[in-house]
Amino acid sequence: MKDRLIALKNEAISNILDTSNKNELENLRIEYLGRKGKVNKIIKTLKELPVDERREMGGLANEVKNAIQTALEESVKKLHKFQKLESQWIDITAPGIRPPKGHLHLVTQAIEEISDIFEKIGFRRVSYPEIEWDWFAFEGLNMPKNHPARDVWETFFVNGPTSKKYGEMVLTPHTSSGQLREMLAIKKPPIRMINFAKCYRRQLDVTHTPMFYQFEGLCIDKEINITHLKGVTNYFFEKFYGPQRKIRLRPFHFQFTEPSFEVDINCPLCLGKGCKTCKSGWHELGGAGMVHPTVLKNGGINPQYYSGFAFGWGVERTYLMKSDIKIDDTRIYYQNDIRFLEQF
Ligand code: PHE
Repeated sequence: MKDRLIALKNEAISNILDTSNKNELENLRIEYLGRKGKVNKIIKTLKELPVDERREMGGLANEVKNAIQTALEESVKKLHKFQKLESQWIDITAPGIRPPKGHLHLVTQAIEEISDIFEKIGFRRVSYPEIEWDWFAFEGLNMPKNHPARDVWETFFVNGPTSKKYGEMVLTPHTSSGQLREMLAIKKPPIRMINFAKCYRRQLDVTHTPMFYQFEGLCIDKEINITHLKGVTNYFFEKFYGPQRKIRLRPFHFQFTEPSFEVDINCPLCLGKGCKTCKSGWHELGGAGMVHPTVLKNGGINPQYYSGFAFGWGVERTYLMKSDIKIDDTRIYYQNDIRFLEQF
């Protein structure tokens, strides 16, 4: 009986160690420890033994039972651990998952493109304060305090200190303040400036946002005249839009240029024939003109020797006029809708 018990234990444990499968382990448990299992079968024969031997064999049978039980439990534990490791296994040679990559905002891309074109013909890119003194934004540009023209700019005033010389503080309403800043900084022409800045006005509709970008060109030198303005304007628009598009200068009035123009571009949809969106075939891009002598004087430049032209156009509007950009509401630039921005 003793030999049978020990043989049974060895057989069971070796079978258990050979198994790497949960179901097979359960089958082994039933085979050896089940109610009708091999161990119980031997235990049932114990009563045929003499009392002394019965006690000894009973003890041994229990030990065999426990040993098989422990072996089974350990195997199950090992199996669990292995399964866990397997689920955590990673293939370090597999190619990684690329993190999502962003890109520059549409308006920033437009600014880069515009400034590249002007830098090629010697315009220097600058940036001037976003919060500006009244003098640079208006007064020094030949627009005295109560001049009705100033209403057009619908300015945001800032609760800040007031300067005796420069007046109140405003959020830059247009990039033209950069004209005076540039003249006072450079002092002696030639000046070729391209100034990008955020501008602020009280306006919000399909074609306006309260914050928008402008770019201001300023060119001052000896004998600068309208043909230079026209040449630079044509050069820029041809580079930016391609040769099919046309621009025109239309007489207009600004306090700080004389003569003044508005610059129009033919409609990207009908190319000038006239359609539902443009009506006349043209879209207005912004202002331009020959720098007013008073402005030159305010910038410390003698208008007897020097003359210049300036223009100021909206970045968003200019970009919108590309033929392949079909945007009908300028507010979308600043709604931060990734689905829109991702397309550019
Ligand atoms: N500053 C003018 C505007 O915001 C545009 C302009 C710039 C006009 C330079 C003439 C010369 O409307």
